[in-house]
Amino acid sequence: MGMVELALVACFLVVILPMVSSSSEGSKEIDQWLQELTHAKQKATHLHFYLHDTFSGRNPTVVEVAQSNMTHSSPTLFGLMNVMDDPLTEGPESTSKEVGRAQGFYGSSGQKEMGLLMAMSLVFTTGKFNGSSLTILGRNPAMEPHRELPIIGGSGVFRLARGFAALKTYYYNASNGDAIVEYNVAVIHY
Ligand SMILES: *[C@@H]1O[C@H](CO)[C@@H](O)[C@H](O)[C@H]1NC(C)=O
Ligand SMILES: *[C@@H]1O[C@H](CO)[C@@H](O)[C@H](O)[C@H]1NC(C)=O
Ligand SMILES: *[C@@H]1O[C@H](CO)[C@@H](O)[C@H](O)[C@H]1NC(C)=O
Repeated sequence: MGMVELALVACFLVVILPMVSSSSEGSKEIDQWLQELTHAKQKATHLHFYLHDTFSGRNPTVVEVAQSNMTHSSPTLFGLMNVMDDPLTEGPESTSKEVGRAQGFYGSSGQKEMGLLMAMSLVFTTGKFNGSSLTILGRNPAMEPHRELPIIGGSGVFRLARGFAALKTYYYNASNGDAIVEYNVAVIHY
């Protein structure tokens, strides 16, 4: 099944089976949600957006927070830790509509080749996914043109989510580290 078909299935299932959730649910609502879960069909959703990871300028969205004493003599910057709050946009332009934020951190954990361990939440701020989030945890060999990271969970409409994110570098400036990365996310949820 192709990505476009997945998206269509997702829209269809959303219509026939809305599993609503709010972040402030009590014991009763949680019981009811779990009861509905036994009859709930899985939905497959395809999300597409661009992440802007910006070190340069007056308003960086990613900052270095820690490093080891050998990080800057390492060709892979081994031991470097960055924290980010990066905008996610519909298109690759910085002026494109914002649809969410990527909040978390990544550490350089490869000694022989560039490899990041990424731990972050994708927090959506528009449309039917407003207030819902997905959690990514996994290895990102950032210098490879295509990477795949696991989605290990979610909240809101993405409760019990699992899936993966396919990453492709759209823009990278090696002198200041700024990057724009295309994300295609495939996620199964209820
Ligand atoms: C880094 O720190 C360790 C432990 O303090 C020390 O043994 C080592 O010589 C230091 N390396 C460099 C490159 O400064
Ligand atoms: C998203 O949800 C927040 C909190 O409920 C609300 O304030 C905001 O207006 C919503 N944004 C959109 C674009 O729907
Ligand atoms: C890359 O970054 C450097 C240093 O900030 C800047 O001078 C240069 O214009 C940037 N290159 C591109 C293609 O944006």
